[in-house]
Amino acid sequence: MPDYAAAAAAYLRSTLPFQPRVAVVLGSGLGAMVEELSDTTSVAFKQVPGFPSAGVAGHAGKFVAGRLAGTEVLFQCGRYHLYEGHSPDVVAGPVRAMAALGVHTIVFTNAAGGVRPTLEPGDIVMLEDHINLQAQSPLMGPVRTGEERFPDMSAPYDPELRLLAVEAAAQLSIALHSGVYAGVLGPSYETAAEVRMLGKLGADLVGMSTVPEVVAARARGVRCLAFSVVTNKATGLGGGALSHAEVVAVGREAGVRLGRLLKALVPRLPADPQSGLTK
Ligand code: HPA
Repeated sequence: MPDYAAAAAAYLRSTLPFQPRVAVVLGSGLGAMVEELSDTTSVAFKQVPGFPSAGVAGHAGKFVAGRLAGTEVLFQCGRYHLYEGHSPDVVAGPVRAMAALGVHTIVFTNAAGGVRPTLEPGDIVMLEDHINLQAQSPLMGPVRTGEERFPDMSAPYDPELRLLAVEAAAQLSIALHSGVYAGVLGPSYETAAEVRMLGKLGADLVGMSTVPEVVAARARGVRCLAFSVVTNKATGLGGGALSHAEVVAVGREAGVRLGRLLKALVPRLPADPQSGLTK
């Protein structure tokens, strides 16, 4: 099987002004955070060998390399989703390319519905774990170069990095919740019965992304953190009918707060994953 990640990484290496070590993936309505970057270089997904162009409203579909509070970082604006009809391989393509490029830490963001009744629209939740309800994995098929067949998933969201995020949030007085994310296929929102089921399964949040990307990242040893912006109460919890426009609008407002948190957090992430935590 051709090594698509290596080809994509080679293209990015020849285009970007530096070799990124830390990346941030921006989800629905969270793209405005990219304006915090200085000295930027952009690469549209469709320029990268093997990448289709992304097609969901609120998702731009590009990589932007730049400096966030002085620290070099690669932003992935927009992502591929299974519900668009993309294979798990395409969905995990950007993460695999970034890992092949030398990125060792990825901070994921997404929009999610609140399943835990106490979560309100606008809340920011750091993922402590996930439940894969998509019945698919980017690891299906032959083992890709640089990946493990059976990666450990006991701590997909790095406990040490989560501690740094808690500290950064406390210093900024940003309320940071913690929760379990159920990754579903979508694209229809859940029924009320499905949301009751998700709560019984142990989910606090529900969304349609992130899980395949984290699975591929962990198979390559990449350290992961993820933040959900609660854009709505999940179906049946009193929020009324759901619309994508509402999800994007709430994401924008809370995205400003999450942007402040990331601006404080990214410079604290270890520059060298082998060196332990640095401050
Ligand atoms: N369900 C699934 N995905 C979502 C939701 C939701 O309620 N809100 C934002 N993304």
